[in-house]
This record gives sequence, structure tokens and C-alpha cells, in this order.
Amino acid sequence: MKKNEVNRKTIVHPISPLYDKNSKILILGSFPSVKSREEAFFYGHPQNRFWKVLAAVLSEKVPVTVEEKKMFLKKNHIALWDVIHSCEIIGSSDSSIRNVVPNDLSSILADGDIRQIYCNGAKSYEYFRKYLEAETGREAMKLPSTSPANASFSLSRLTESWKIICGPLGVAPPGIGNVLLDWYGYHARILPWRSDPTPYHVWISEIMLQQTRVEAVKKYYDRWMEELPDIYALSEVSDEKLMKLWEGLGYYNRAKNLKAAAVMVVNKYGGELPGDYEKLLSLKGIGEYTAGAISSIAFGLPEPAVDGNVLRIFSRLLMEEEEIGKSGVKKRITREVKRVMPQGRAGDYNQALMDLGAMICLPNGEPLCGRCPWETVCQAHKKGKEKDFPHKAAKKKRRIEKKTVFLIEAGEKVLLHQRGENGLLAGLWELPNVDGEWDVADVSCAIKKEYPADCLIEFIGEGKHIFSHVEWQMKGYRVCLNDISEKLPKKKEWVMASKKELEEQYAVPSAFDCFKKLL
Ligand code: ADE
Repeated sequence: MKKNEVNRKTIVHPISPLYDKNSKILILGSFPSVKSREEAFFYGHPQNRFWKVLAAVLSEKVPVTVEEKKMFLKKNHIALWDVIHSCEIIGSSDSSIRNVVPNDLSSILADGDIRQIYCNGAKSYEYFRKYLEAETGREAMKLPSTSPANASFSLSRLTESWKIICGPLGVAPPGIGNVLLDWYGYHARILPWRSDPTPYHVWISEIMLQQTRVEAVKKYYDRWMEELPDIYALSEVSDEKLMKLWEGLGYYNRAKNLKAAAVMVVNKYGGELPGDYEKLLSLKGIGEYTAGAISSIAFGLPEPAVDGNVLRIFSRLLMEEEEIGKSGVKKRITREVKRVMPQGRAGDYNQALMDLGAMICLPNGEPLCGRCPWETVCQAHKKGKEKDFPHKAAKKKRRIEKKTVFLIEAGEKVLLHQRGENGLLAGLWELPNVDGEWDVADVSCAIKKEYPADCLIEFIGEGKHIFSHVEWQMKGYRVCLNDISEKLPKKKEWVMASKKELEEQYAVPSAFDCFKKLL
């Protein structure tokens, strides 16, 4: 008997496969080493870099115990097994393997949604092709072996090659946060609130930027900081002035909430915004996105700030198939945003994502992928499907409301009415209006009842204003009267305002701009 035949034994694989119905990839080795056979678990040899590589690729801690390794695989949706069911082998040597009987993969492939099979090293790939490719009807991808025998591959080179598993796993690959920061270093937008990102500056800018374009916000922000330079000034501002500063920005509750929160910050936190995510979240008007933005930009805390732009970017990056509005999707994407957040740079990273969404990964029409720092890692772009993401639920149709609006002038003044304390545009001033579509005869009849003296009625056109869920379709009439002050109801919500007073004192929402501009 020759020497190398003395130790050759037939061994049956002693470890069961690890997988469940949520497994997304299957990694196949060849056959467990002596150490793994003793431990009865995969990749037990301390020099094998399998666990280190997976942890680096997934930006996680290296699992140490068998229990931790099992949890790690389950959490990351990785199925693990080997190609060989039994063989003759000397020690752990792949090259000594003879008389291979392959494993049966059918239950793993039937039970889960395995998107890709990977082979750890050339031997596993060779046996897969020989015994399993035809049987399973699946192709595998060969990855460089993590075994200590593959010494020419350093840990970082292995990690680089193994990053490919991020695609089918739907996770953000490591290092892309730093790539984004490099891009941001050259392409960051110069914005007024970025030059001195104090908590107050960041807070005000983030509230103004909710649902509102950056270009529209700039002049409001500058004027606000001149008038209300700190939290104390905001906490004491009159409601009239507050509304005037916000006039035309829309979603007026934002301004009311700002003042209420400022009062709270003065009373509870001595006038300093708290540098704590949960405490920020408890303030009026601050939701998860804004709490994340303030925490990271103003306080350097490692919190994500996930808005529609970030959801769009990551839904393309990861080819997120589910509808973007589902809460599970937001949770998943938030985890990926955090996974690649560079340490100590949360504020810049979050702002870089905002700029990427505003300048490159555009919402409607063509994203500018050729200029994107993530072009090579974006799953949707690789498949030429970037415009198909994100998947969105069909929008609910807006309710249409017909209105008739009056520009009631007497001399140099115009009649204004203050809206009620609740509902849409609460407390703001408006041009008098009624529900429904009136023609000249309707208007004439109604006006003459109130003001029988001669008046001039003129149709001045139509206008439209879109709120988030309602659309106003308006018809406008100019009504020129003699002085009507005497006949005004003696109530504070009706005033005759001069043009100057209208400009300086009364906040009228932009829904009325189409008629107001005809004054
Ligand atoms: N959109 C929301 N917050 C922003 C910010 N801080 N900079 C630019 N755009 C934004």
C-alpha cells in the first residue's frame, strides 16, 4: 500500500445545511476541514477567513461562537452548505479528495428564494459544475477561496471580490459611504444654512425644506434669520409676524409648530436645542427625518435622515422591489443607510445623500447616472432599470373643490377675511370667497343684497392651486364699491387693508396669488 493511501478514508459530511425560507444566497464550500468536522460547524479553522470576509462585506462584527455564526447567517439571509456529501479525503486537503458523492441541493433551492449560488474556491466550483449544474439547472459564481491555502489573496482582496454578494442580498456594499463623501467634497451645494450649522440654523432650514424646494427656501431662510436670529426671538414672536415670515411657503402648521417647540425649548432646555435624537423627536413638528438631520448635521450624532430622496437613491441602488411607501421598506432602507455611514461623518454623509438626490439621482425623467459616484455599484443601473425604481403605489386622486373668489375693492383698499382657527390655512388671511362656481349674475345678485349702491363687477379670470390632497379651481371677480367700511361686520376677522398693510401685515397664502397680483 502506498503512503498516501494509508490515511485515505471515506467520510460522510457531518454537518447539516443551514438555510430557511428567507435565504437569498447559497454559499457552497467543498468539504469541511478537520477542524470544522471536530467543531461540527462550517469554517471552524481559525486561519480560514470566511467569517472575517463576510463580516467585512456586510459591515458587521465578526461572529465567534457557533451560535453567533448561525445567527449571523440567519439575519443576513445566507444559506450555507458544501458541494460534497461524502468522499475520500486525507485530513483537510482539497487536492486529496476522491470518489465524490455530491450533496442534494433540491430542498434548499425549493424552500427558499435563492437568487444566486456562490462557490467558495475553485474546488467547490469544479464539483458544482461536474455534479450539480445540470441537476439543479442553476449556474454558480466562483469566488476566491477563503481558505488559508489561498495565501495569495489578502483579506482586503478577498473582501473586494466577495462584495458581489451584496447585490442579491439587497444590502449596500461596504466603502460606498466614503466614495460618496469624496464626491461631496467636490460637489456639495453652497447653501445659506450650511455655512454655520448651529442647531438653530439646521432646525429652521430643515423645517422650511420639508416639502419645499431649496431654491424657494433660500430667501425665506435669510429673512427669517434677520428677523428671528435665535430661539428666544422665535419663542416670543407674534403670530402675525410669524405668519408673515412664512407667507407663501405653504404648510403653515410648520411655522406654528416651530414657535410652540421654541417655547418648549426655552422652558424645558434653557433655550438650547437638545443634542439627543429622542428629545428632538419629542418636539412639535420634528419627525424622524428632521430629528436625524439635526442630530447628525448640528451635533455629529450617527443618525440617518431618510426622506423621499434617500428612499429613491437606495431603492435604485438595491433594486428594492416592494413599494417604497411600505413601512417595512423604509425600515430596511434605513438599516442600509446606516450600514454604510462613515464613522464620525454622519452630517456630511446625510447631506451628501441630499445633494445626490437633488443633483444626480433625479426623481422624474433621467437620473444622471454617468455622473453618479455610485454608478458602478447601483443594481438598477447595472440592469438599465434605474427609471423603474422606486416602485410607488398609484397616487390617490386629489379632491377638486370649485371656488369663487372676490377682489372687493373700495378706493385704495381691499377686503380681507381671516380664516378660522382650524382646518386648511387656519388663521391666515384670504380674499373673500365662497364654495362653488358663480357666474356674473350670481355675483351681482349676492353683492347687491349686501351693498345695494352702484357697483362694478368684472370677471378677472380663473386660477388653480394644488394642496397636498385638494385642488382648488377658482373663478375670480373684481367688485369695485364705494367705501364699505361702515357696512363691514364689526368683527375682527373682516378688514379693509391698504396695499401697504397687505404687504407688511396680513399673511395671505399663495393660493390667492393669481388674483392678488391683479390688485
Ligand atoms: N433637503 C432637506 N434638507 C436639506 C439640506 N440640509 N440641504 C439640502 N437639501 C435639503
